[in-house]
Amino acid sequence: MSDLLWQKPGIAVDARIQAFLAGDDVILDREFFLHDIAASKAHAEGLQRIGILAAEELAGLERELDALAADFRSGAFVLDERYEDGHSAIEARLTERLGDAGKRIHTGRSRNDQVLVATRLWLKDRLAVLHAVAREAAGVALGRAEADAGLPMPGYTHLQRAVVSSAGMWWAGWAEAFIDDAVRARDTRAWIDANPLGSAAGYGVNLALDRDHTTAALGFGRMQVSATCAQLSRGKFELAALEALGSAMLDLRRLAWDLSLFTSAEFGFVALPPRYTTGSSIMPNKRNPDAIELMRGSYASVAAARTEIEQLLSLPSGYHRDLQVSKGALFHGFGKGLQALALLPDLLQRMQWNPEAMRAALDPSMYATDLAVELARQGMPFRDAYRQAADPERWQARDPEASLAARTSPGAAGDPRLAVLRERLDAAGRELVLVLETATYRQRAGSATRVAERRATWERMLRSVQASALDLA
Ligand code: ARG
Repeated sequence: MSDLLWQKPGIAVDARIQAFLAGDDVILDREFFLHDIAASKAHAEGLQRIGILAAEELAGLERELDALAADFRSGAFVLDERYEDGHSAIEARLTERLGDAGKRIHTGRSRNDQVLVATRLWLKDRLAVLHAVAREAAGVALGRAEADAGLPMPGYTHLQRAVVSSAGMWWAGWAEAFIDDAVRARDTRAWIDANPLGSAAGYGVNLALDRDHTTAALGFGRMQVSATCAQLSRGKFELAALEALGSAMLDLRRLAWDLSLFTSAEFGFVALPPRYTTGSSIMPNKRNPDAIELMRGSYASVAAARTEIEQLLSLPSGYHRDLQVSKGALFHGFGKGLQALALLPDLLQRMQWNPEAMRAALDPSMYATDLAVELARQGMPFRDAYRQAADPERWQARDPEASLAARTSPGAAGDPRLAVLRERLDAAGRELVLVLETATYRQRAGSATRVAERRATWERMLRSVQASALDLA
């Protein structure tokens, strides 16, 4: 291991204890290493602006930080147990390449605000990806709500046949749910969009750090002003992001449940694209919906991450090393969650209905509610109408299409208002793009190039999350 940043003469370092303290840090810190580098550049710029670094020193640091990022991406630099953590690795490399300029970069910062800012930037990127996948899933569901509007199917409550519903209504529900999830991702992203860099160990420093500059340069919406608040937000912001992810995952879990029921022979409503199914090692006849079950099961990783972080936060204010544990939980939860969600748009696009089986599952009892409401509409008090319509003698097979067409309460099959959902979906996307494109953001971000870089990063991440998800299926 390279020399420990904090090592003092006369205090022996025990390898086993060091291994315990470092934990999986060098592996975990790979996850946000590029964000740590980006924040280090902004910090160095800030130091130059207040005279701690000379212009040439800053130029050298920026050059070497870019080179380190490139080497990390290409695999020429590996963050491994030669270092205590990612933060030490950055400083060690800069010092090795630049001497004193490298030794100056940590002026006025602590690993406590360094890990906070790197995690915060990482979270903002992940929430942008969450927003994008939720929108994409909503878009597919909405398209299919329009296309499959005329397909009748049973509507269930308590898993018992209840009333006639339609594939269109089923789809519209998921469309709206995923629009809400996208909006929640966007709003959570705005909620955590605060720059902790410059809070140092949690109490500020005796330097007039240019925090306005680092806030703008890193594209944050605001500064996390109080140095003591910065540490209070560690874990709390991670939890908020996991909750936003959890709400999309909750919808995914219920949707996966529907599909696993609907693909069973007992229902037979849905045919999954073959690529989402697997065979059995012993039963030659089987095609199993494993991908759907793993999507459903991924919820557990997100819930576990939330629980683990929440348990950690039983702490007094200020930094505590316990907080390090939050990283593994966060990366695992987001890794599993986004990977599962990324499959969803393609799955939804390709799944096929079996309209005959859906129609065959409608029975005369499912028009009893229509009948009761019809009688009430003619003037009978609803409770009397209900009693009459409860009599099986009065149940008759009817035309399901007519039942659906008469369901004119807003949001039901006769008045689904898909155009309203379409507007909300468009607005949910536009707003995030607008954040990136506004002149103020451009100004804050320093240049249009930085804006373009961020957007390219999101798009790359979205594609890689989707590619790795598809590899699994
Ligand atoms: N690995 C640490 C973490 O994730 C970095 C901060 C270390 N700070 C400290 N005072 N030891 O929390």
